[in-house]
Amino acid sequence: MYLDSIKNFTIKDDAIIMGIETSCDETAVSIVKNGREVLSDVIISSATEHAKFGGVVPEIASRAHTTAIYQATERALKDAGLTFDDIDGFAVTYGAGLLGALLVGVSYAKTLAYCFNKPLIPVSHIRGHMAASYIADKSLQPPFISLLTSGGHTAVIAVKSYYEIEVLGSTLDDAVGEAFDKVARVLGLSYPGGPSVERLAKQGQPTIKLPKMFKGQGGYNFSYSGLKTAVINAVHNAEQKGEDLSKADVACSFQSAALDILAQKAVEACKQFKYDTISLCGGVAANGYLRDKVSSLANKSNIKVVLPEKRYCTDNGCMIAAEGYLQYKKGNFADLSLNASANVTLK
Ligand code: KG4
Ligand code: ZN
Repeated sequence: MYLDSIKNFTIKDDAIIMGIETSCDETAVSIVKNGREVLSDVIISSATEHAKFGGVVPEIASRAHTTAIYQATERALKDAGLTFDDIDGFAVTYGAGLLGALLVGVSYAKTLAYCFNKPLIPVSHIRGHMAASYIADKSLQPPFISLLTSGGHTAVIAVKSYYEIEVLGSTLDDAVGEAFDKVARVLGLSYPGGPSVERLAKQGQPTIKLPKMFKGQGGYNFSYSGLKTAVINAVHNAEQKGEDLSKADVACSFQSAALDILAQKAVEACKQFKYDTISLCGGVAANGYLRDKVSSLANKSNIKVVLPEKRYCTDNGCMIAAEGYLQYKKGNFADLSLNASANVTLK
C-alpha cells in the first residue's frame, strides 16, 4: 500500500519538512520550510549521561533516543504551531552513525510516514551537515567550497550544484574532531573534548613544537594521527621526566596545528576553483579559532565565508530537514524497507 503511494506523491513548490536526527547523542527534531526557513528546532542531548564515561556509550544513546524522540517531536510541532497534517515529508538520518541510535530515528520516521501517508526521505548525516549552510545564508547558492569538519569526517569539498559534489581531499586517518576528543582525554578534560580544548587553549600560547602536516603537499588531504601521537608523547615524556608542561600551551599548540591547515587548504581550493565562497560545517566549525582563521585568510583574497550559527554546526535536525528538502524536490523517497547504516560514503 505505502509502496504504491511513494510513486504517486505530488512534489509541492513550497514544502515543510520535518528533520529527524538520532545518529549520536542528540535527539533532534526540527521543522524547516523550503530548506531555508527554520520553523522549529528541538535538541534533547544525552551528553551529560555519557560525560562520566569520557565518550558516547552507544547503548545509553539508543535508550535516551527512545525516551526523548516523542517529546522532541511534540515540541517541534508545538513550537512551529503545526500538526502532522502540515508536514510534507519526514526526513531522517539513515547513516553514518551509531547503528542502534540511528535505528530509533529511522523506525520512528517510517512510522510517521506510513501513518500520515507522506514521503519518507533518507538523508546522509554528512550531506546534512553541508546543507546547514543553506540555513545559515538564505541566499547561498552553489558553487562554493564546503569545509567539512566533524567527529567522523574532515574534507574539502567542491559543491558544484545542489546535488553534485566533488571531494577534493579528506583525512587519511583520524577526523579532526576525533583528534580533539583524544587530545582532551590525554589532558584530562571533560567530554565533549572539542569545546574543552578550545576553552583551555584560550589561556595558553602555541609554544610546543608539533609536526606540521602536509604543508604545501598532500593535495587537499589531511592526516591527524601523527599530530595526535605527538601531543600524547609530549605529555607522557614531560610526566616521566617530572617536567611541568602547561596543559593550556599544549591545547593551544595542538589547536593551531590542527586547524591552520584546514583554513589554508579551504582557501587554496576556493582560489583553484575560482569560487567566491567557503562555507564551514560540522561540529569543529563551532570552534572560534577556526572560524577566525578561515575568515581572516579568506578576507585577504576577497572570498566570502559562511559561518553557520554554532548550534547548526554540531548535530541538529534543521540540517537534516534542509538536505531532506533537496531530496524531496528530486523525489528521492524511501519505502518502508529503509535500513540504518553505520557508514555512508561521501558522495
Ligand atoms: O558534527 P558533530 O556534532 O558530530 C559528528 O558528526 O561527528 O561533531 C562532533 C565533533 C566532536 O569531535 C567535538 O569534539 C567537535 O565536533 N567539536 C569541537 C567543538 N565543538 C564540537 N571541536 C573543536 N572546537 C569546538 N568548539
Ligand atoms: Zn554530525
